[in-house]
Amino acid sequence: MSLDKDVAKMTLDAKAGSSVYVCELSGDDAKGSGSEAAPFKTVLRAVESNATAEILVRKTADEGFQPAAKSALKKAQKLAEGKAAKAAKAAASAADAAAAEAARMEEAKKIVIKQDESLPAAQRIKIRDGTEHRGKRVKVSGWVHRHRSQGNALMFIVLRDGSGYLQCVLTGKQCQTFDAITLMKESTVTIYGVLEALPEGKTAPGGHELRADYWEVIGKAPGGEDAFDNKFNVNTSPDIMLDQRHLVIRGETASSVLKMRALVLKAFREFFDSKKVLEVTPPLMVQTQVEGGSTLFDFNYYGQTAYLTQSSQLYLETCLASLGDVYCMAESFRAEKSHTRRHLSEFTHCEGELAFIDFEDLLNFLEEMIVYVMKRVTTDPEGSQILKELNPDFKAPTGRFRRMNYADAIKWLNDNGVKKDVLDAEGNVIGQADYEFGEDIPESPERRMTDTIGEPILLCRFPAEIKSFYMKRCPEDLRLTESVDVLMPNVGEIVGGSMRMTDLKELMKGYEREGIDPAPYYWYTDQRKYGTCEHGGFGLGVERFLAWLLNRYTVREVCLYPRFMGRCEP
Ligand code: 4AD
Repeated sequence: MSLDKDVAKMTLDAKAGSSVYVCELSGDDAKGSGSEAAPFKTVLRAVESNATAEILVRKTADEGFQPAAKSALKKAQKLAEGKAAKAAKAAASAADAAAAEAARMEEAKKIVIKQDESLPAAQRIKIRDGTEHRGKRVKVSGWVHRHRSQGNALMFIVLRDGSGYLQCVLTGKQCQTFDAITLMKESTVTIYGVLEALPEGKTAPGGHELRADYWEVIGKAPGGEDAFDNKFNVNTSPDIMLDQRHLVIRGETASSVLKMRALVLKAFREFFDSKKVLEVTPPLMVQTQVEGGSTLFDFNYYGQTAYLTQSSQLYLETCLASLGDVYCMAESFRAEKSHTRRHLSEFTHCEGELAFIDFEDLLNFLEEMIVYVMKRVTTDPEGSQILKELNPDFKAPTGRFRRMNYADAIKWLNDNGVKKDVLDAEGNVIGQADYEFGEDIPESPERRMTDTIGEPILLCRFPAEIKSFYMKRCPEDLRLTESVDVLMPNVGEIVGGSMRMTDLKELMKGYEREGIDPAPYYWYTDQRKYGTCEHGGFGLGVERFLAWLLNRYTVREVCLYPRFMGRCEP
């Protein structure tokens, strides 16, 4: 800046008292303040910020700030006035709209609906019982699952009460009350009216609708940002969906899955009942491992270390001499360190134990149980409807399952080119090799085989080294155990079972092989001391069974509130 210009500028500043600066090169209308250090970019912005101040403009790098040209000032002033007028108009119309809305709300508050005392008393019903109450006046309470208005005198509410969905039709003043015009999804309401069958060609759940004569709100759900529909949508991440699980379970898919879960548990219980197998409820806080120490959850039990049970099997075995054949439907816990789609930290374990049977009896029992439960679920009206919605291609197995020995599975993998990775000392993959007899078959090749074969498999006779300490050896080949995994397409193993050791000395060797101190197991060992018997049993993972049945990607989807590594809430 030249000395002359500097002086001129100082004079201008002094004259105006306040000046607003505009730099067409480096100014910023959004971030600038109009000072010399932080000038605006346009004269319009300068005029908007201070209509009376002197506006100084710099157009080129070597030019200083000069008073804005008159024509530029005039143009900017005109533009600013236009903009201000437009903004004032918009503000006025927003205020008008708000006032109109407030007036509408006030008007709505004056509209009060009352029950018509001349109508017959309404009988409270659950939605599932609608058909038998058609033509009668009823009242139904539930959550607003969906709703829509048609004009200001017709409103449809799909009500949900856990037992089903019901279309309700509200007319006239019922749609104009304050509660009606501010109704939000998931509010609770009671609706009174008569259930009428739908005319030909119209559809709604149950084939009928409730023509309301009166309704009332019990609990309002919020609107705005906190509205139910803003909590999650199809693009929400699985983790946030799990944080919001208490709301997610209100959805149609999640609630159908949970209903099927209840149906499956009931069907298992019915099967055991039909076989006179008695239900017991073993302790879940224990001192012993069943399936290896690496997946035990420990906790402080009055100063002593205790564990959450991995399986109730050992307790079930002790019941045989007291109650005969027994089963339990209890939670088991595994401190799984892997994030697979079929592993949970807590799962529902359906376990059975049968006395005086042989291995063939055990396999037949498992087959019969799964076929029974399938039949029970697929012939139940609600069960078949849920299956149709969630897994329409499902074909329930009916006959005998394919039986395959572990040794044949190893051969199948090798014959079908399913290889294992060979790793170097640092864990890098350096090649591929065939599976060998004696190795555990990991999840991925096991699933490959099951999915390729595409039907349930009873995979039998695993080598003793890869199975638990209590499993009975095969009399025909002592390297093997009388053990079985039931494998299903899409999930793999859903059941693990075996015959149990009956001989005291053999069991002691089992403890030794696995490095287990036999002392805390005295009560289990005693079963071999006080009248041993041939017996066997199994554990079925209810979540894996459901994932297979409902074709869910992961077992997490079929739990009420799943627990897995990294999640123990809500
Ligand atoms: O094969 P597992 O470990 O066998 C036992 O626990 C036996 N003591 C059961 C018995 O004979 N009474 O587990 C049995 C089944 C598996 O096939 C699987 O379906 C399920 O329990 N399971 C799991 N499900 C979900 N998450 C996990 N971490 C599971 N671990 C086992």
